[in-house]
Amino acid sequence: MESKIKKIGVLTSGGDAPGMNAAIRSVVRTAVSKYGMEVKGILRGYAGLIDDELIDMDYHAVCDIIHHGGTILYTARCKEMMTEEGQRKAAEVCKKHGIEGLVVIGGDGSFRGAQKLAGLGINTIGVPGTIDLDIACTEYTIGFDTAINTAMECIDKIRDTSTSHERISIVEVMGRNAGYIALYTGIAGGAEDILINERYDGDEAAIVEHIKRCQLEGRRHHIIVNAEGVGDSYAMAKRIQAATGIDTRATVLGHIQRGGTPTCKDRVYASMMGAVAVDLLALGQTKRVVAYRNGTYTDFDIDEALAMKKDVNEYMFETAMKLA
Ligand code: ADP
Ligand code: F6P
Repeated sequence: MESKIKKIGVLTSGGDAPGMNAAIRSVVRTAVSKYGMEVKGILRGYAGLIDDELIDMDYHAVCDIIHHGGTILYTARCKEMMTEEGQRKAAEVCKKHGIEGLVVIGGDGSFRGAQKLAGLGINTIGVPGTIDLDIACTEYTIGFDTAINTAMECIDKIRDTSTSHERISIVEVMGRNAGYIALYTGIAGGAEDILINERYDGDEAAIVEHIKRCQLEGRRHHIIVNAEGVGDSYAMAKRIQAATGIDTRATVLGHIQRGGTPTCKDRVYASMMGAVAVDLLALGQTKRVVAYRNGTYTDFDIDEALAMKKDVNEYMFETAMKLA
C-alpha cells in the first residue's frame, strides 16, 4: 500500500512491559510488508537515539520474539531527553538517518518525549506500553495482563503459607501511583483488604478492626494487597502485627511483575496497536497516541491524551470492597 513516508524508527522507553516485543514485531512487519518502508530499531530508548545507536530491522529481525518478555531493543530512562538540547540531538539523529516517522512504545513519560520530537518535525506516534494501566486515553496498556496474572499467581502462593501459619500477609504490587494492578489482583486473589492510592484514606485502625472481625469469623489468613504508592509494606506489617498480636509478613513482588512470557491478550493488543501506529504514520499523521476504547482501536492527539485524567471504576472498587 501507498505510504506518505518511506523510513521509520521504533524504540521502547521507560519501564519494560511484557508484550513490547510483540509490538516491535508488529511495527516492523506492518511497515515492511504492508508499506514497503525501511525500519531502524533504536536501542535503549531516547538514550540510544541521542547516542545514535540504531540497527537495521527487516522482516526476519523480529522472528521468534513474540513470546518473549522484555524488549529486544532494550529500554532506558533518559534524563538528557528532558532537556531541549537532548531533544534537539534526538531529532537531529532522526534527520541524519532519514527517519521521517517514529514509533515510541512506552508510558506517558515516553509520550512527553514523543510530543517534543513531533514539535521538532519528526512524525511521532505513541503506543501505550506499561504494566501500570495508567494512561488515561486508553482502556488497555501492553503488559498489564501479564503483570496481573504473575501477581495473582504469587498471591495464591502466599495465601497457602499464610493459611498454614495463620498469619496476616501484606503483598505489595507495582503500579507507581496507580492502583489498577492492586485492584485487579486483589479481586482475583480474594484479598481481604485492597489498598490503592486512589481510595485509601490511611485508616489503619479500620484495617485492624477488619482483621479482628475476620478472625472472629474463623478466617485462617488475611491477605492485604497493597499498591506500591500507598506506602512501605514492611513498616505497615510491623504496625499491624503490634496492633493485632498476629504474626504479619510483607512481600514486595517487585520486578517479577515486569517479566515473563506475555499472555495471549498482551500479544494480541500489542500486535494490533503496533499495526495501528504504522498505519497512522503511513497516512502522514503525527503527534498521536494509539488507544483502545469501547472495543475499538483508535488514536488521540498527544496533547489531548496527556491532559486526560483517569480514575478506577467506582463500581469495580465498591464491588471489590464488598467481596473482600
Ligand atoms: P514511562 O514512559 O513508562 O512513563 P518515564 O516516566 O520514566 O516512563 O519516562 C520515560 C522517558 O521518557 C524518560 O526517561 C525521558 O527520557 C522521557 N521523558 C519523560 N518525561 C519527559 C518530558 N517531559 N520531556 C521529554 N522527555 C521525557
Ligand atoms: O512504570 C512501570 C513500573 O514498573 C512501576 O510500576 C514502578 O513504580 C516502576 O516502573 C519501577 O521502576 P524501576 O524499574 O526503575 O525500578
